[in-house]
Amino acid sequence: MKKNEKLLGWVKRVEAMCQPDRVRWCDGSQGEYDEMIRLMLQSGTARKLAESKRPNSYLIWSDPADVARVEDRTFICSEREEDAGPNNNWRAPGSMRETLTGCFTGSMKGRTMYVIPFSMGPVGSRIAQIGVQITDSPYVVANMRIMTRMGQKVLDVLGNSVFVPCLHSVGAPLQKGQRDVPWPCNGENKYIVHFPETREIWSYGSGYGGNALLGKKCFALRIASVMARDEGWLAEHMLILKMTNPEGKARFICGAFPSACGKTNLAMLNPTIDGWKVECIGDDIAWMKFGEDGRLYAINPEAGFFGVAPGTSMRSNPNAMASFQENSLFTNCALTPDGDVWWEEMTDELPPRLTDWRGNDWTPKSGSPASHPNARFTAPASQCPVIAPEWEDPRGVPISAILFGGRRATVVPLVNEARDWQHGTFLGSIMGSEKTAAAAGEVGELRLDPMAMLPFCGYNMADYWAHWLSFTDRASNLPLIYHVNWFRKDADGKFMWPGFGDNMRVIEWITKRCKGEVGVTETAIGGLPHPADINVNGLDTDLATLEALLDVDREAWSEEMEQIRKYLEGYGDRLPTQMIVELDKVVAALAD
Ligand code: OXD
Ligand code: MN
Repeated sequence: MKKNEKLLGWVKRVEAMCQPDRVRWCDGSQGEYDEMIRLMLQSGTARKLAESKRPNSYLIWSDPADVARVEDRTFICSEREEDAGPNNNWRAPGSMRETLTGCFTGSMKGRTMYVIPFSMGPVGSRIAQIGVQITDSPYVVANMRIMTRMGQKVLDVLGNSVFVPCLHSVGAPLQKGQRDVPWPCNGENKYIVHFPETREIWSYGSGYGGNALLGKKCFALRIASVMARDEGWLAEHMLILKMTNPEGKARFICGAFPSACGKTNLAMLNPTIDGWKVECIGDDIAWMKFGEDGRLYAINPEAGFFGVAPGTSMRSNPNAMASFQENSLFTNCALTPDGDVWWEEMTDELPPRLTDWRGNDWTPKSGSPASHPNARFTAPASQCPVIAPEWEDPRGVPISAILFGGRRATVVPLVNEARDWQHGTFLGSIMGSEKTAAAAGEVGELRLDPMAMLPFCGYNMADYWAHWLSFTDRASNLPLIYHVNWFRKDADGKFMWPGFGDNMRVIEWITKRCKGEVGVTETAIGGLPHPADINVNGLDTDLATLEALLDVDREAWSEEMEQIRKYLEGYGDRLPTQMIVELDKVVAALAD
């Protein structure tokens, strides 16, 4: 088959630069995956879990110097610094290319260079995009097979069209005769680099997660957000849910939540109210394009879940637990004596003995976590018991509502409806979490994470808001927007809302709003539910608690608006005036 000339030329140039021992084009087959596993078993990277416990599954321990995304080593190299914005680390593209060329020269010596064609989204969907990752890591190849659609079928669809080149090396060349280590990486020298104008990704030195599986944060968020800006669509850090009401009517919603706010749990929630069914389309990223009817249609660009393991249990997320029951990879989890994985909060009782993620004996007295706090599972989405039948629909699903949620112990009510798209964009820009450390003077200090995109927006956040705002005139039928907060605490520091499956009660109210069945109380910050309209049957939550959860504390909001004004003004001239218009509206209404 004739291959894409641009692709062939790029692969040749990379081969000449990286000097691998051999090049292998990945076909995405089971046999190839099995071979990657065999290589990882041989090199000591992976160990097989007991077949009787978790069939066809493997545990991998990384180097302790390579355990998470490295935001301070993540760069947006646009031609002009102001296009990257204060939300990104910027470097001039020319000098960064020089630095990277130095790093990549000879970086794959003694290794195999894998070429992975992959599709983000169902192959051939008008919303999907194609990338090609070059990597020297069998761990990456195996993970990419779960997280994306990859291999020959993607090349067939690609033909001679454009793709996003994603170059990755663990940055650990092997000299002749040098023995490899179980987790090669470059502890000192990591670069996660994006060239937004030329739509390229170069990642060096790390083999872990979002640093190395380049389809996820690097492509599907940072580069895709730039494509979306230029082409009039949205690439967002959002889950996608399908819910079906007792009458059988289905609706789809998206939700943006910062990392560590229970997003994967919400994406797979088991509703606690009768008659409702909730199914998952995606747990991390949504790409949305307008359909001919003016509605936004979303796909999940990923094919698997790369979720944080600690905290995941039969109580918090039984559907995730079922998703990785077999055919899954686990990274930096602890190992039980009978050959299974374990992590903090997986079980009520601590196991008496484990091997921790560093390979050391562990007992409850060890005084350190047995799994790394950022330990991960990689599981095929198709194995999720509540995966929605539409999850691979190339047309995407029509979105009725968008949730923006942070982790706020104070101030932000349980749910608040935006008056319109412009106000909703403002609500997205003010979401965040407050610092939990009780260090003097810091309590209540807000860490804003606009649209949960702070680490993932590939360009100036002010331009990103302008892009959101541009939709106001572009389409009718826009989704309704809500600010939600499951984490409000009372004076004793106890959570006021039960969360988890009970979040369905808030979502039920939202669907009633979508249908116009219930009203709101207009307040300075937006539309709040009438407490009686939130279904609390079977909960301990009394009316007084519900009223407190839906209270707008004018003083606290006024103070918060001043912090937000400073934050927004930090974006200088690029800040769309509508953002200050919305801020001023809230401030004026609070003073009324
Ligand atoms: C993730 C994140 O890994 O948001 O999904 O950090
Ligand atoms: Mn995420």
